[in-house]
Amino acid sequence: MFLYIFGLVVFYYVYRWFRELKRVPNKSEKYVYITGCDTGFGNLLAKHLDTLGFCVIAGCYTEKGEDELKKACSSRLCTVQLDVTDNESIKKATDAIKALVGDRGLWAVVNNAGVSIPSAPNDWLVIEDFKHMINVNLLGVIAVTLSVLPLIKKAKGRVVNIASVFGRVSPVGGPYCISKYGVEAFNDSLRMNMAPFGVKVLCIEPGFFKTSVTDINLIQSNIKKLWDRLPQDVRDDYGSDYMDRVKVMMKQMFVKMLDGDLMKVVSCMEHAISAVHPRSRYSAGWDAKFFWLPLSYMPSCIADVLLLKDVIKPKVSIL
Ligand SMILES: NC(=O)c1ccc[n+]([C@@H]2O[C@H](COP(=O)([O-])OP(=O)(O)OC[C@H]3O[C@@H](n4cnc5c(N)ncnc54)[C@H](OP(=O)(O)O)[C@@H]3O)[C@@H](O)[C@H]2O)c1
Repeated sequence: MFLYIFGLVVFYYVYRWFRELKRVPNKSEKYVYITGCDTGFGNLLAKHLDTLGFCVIAGCYTEKGEDELKKACSSRLCTVQLDVTDNESIKKATDAIKALVGDRGLWAVVNNAGVSIPSAPNDWLVIEDFKHMINVNLLGVIAVTLSVLPLIKKAKGRVVNIASVFGRVSPVGGPYCISKYGVEAFNDSLRMNMAPFGVKVLCIEPGFFKTSVTDINLIQSNIKKLWDRLPQDVRDDYGSDYMDRVKVMMKQMFVKMLDGDLMKVVSCMEHAISAVHPRSRYSAGWDAKFFWLPLSYMPSCIADVLLLKDVIKPKVSIL
């Protein structure tokens, strides 16, 4: 009996592996628009797709990012200056894309641009701290998608959203998890809305990777800034040595968890764009597959115990 079940499982994975190998034809006629291409996953994906023969339209936040990417890629790649929080900038980019793709439509948009600070306990923050990140990570994704959706429908193409394992579990305070939960929700409703039009909507959920988003120096200096502006009574609750303990914990955690192999994420993005049969969801990284996603399926009472075990407690903690 066990052998029979084992055989079925093996057959399923072998079948899935073969099915997922097949790639779409005519890459050189397919346009892919990627946001946040200055650094990190977006930058690597732009270069990778360019090498594979796609026509990449790279949205860059800075002029420096545009120049460096152009130098590193073929003449097929074009760049557009893009701030995903600015409607005017999105419209200008969309007009340029319309002119480029013509009647073929746009094969894919990859919503990759994102930021990760401020991240801190919620009682350290004010509402303004939430707005900028939600504007970039969530409203930016929606605005860019809506601006090019007619072109994607024309090509029966794809929307690829970069969420996070923190769109499934929410262990840190601040707007990051909120924004990524929102991306997951937008992704899921759009996937169903677009299915009748032959448009596929795919979601990538990376674990912890070494990029600017997880730059420990940037994150720590931002936490220090937030600490410095706290009223004395809140600082007293957390204790005068709280920041030092957080620094030590973060250093240990980041050394243990950060994965330097960005191709694990970029390969998932590339598969979502170019496979004939892409997956609805991709979890990239061992921590995503074996820790964060299983954790997201656990009852809250168990997940909370596991997460609170290693967290730095305030001085007045009753736990
Ligand atoms: N690294 C991870 O562990 C991890 C895990 C899960 C999910 N993610 C997600 O992956 C995506 C890519 O992040 P990454 O890790 O590759 O970090 P990254 O290197 O910082 O890439 C993010 C890019 O977005 C750009 N950007 C920031 N604000 C923008 C705006 N308003 N408009 C347009 N572009 C903007 C940044 O430009 P500048 O560099 O010029 O600021 C940067 O090029 C993000 O959505 C992030 O949340 C990352």
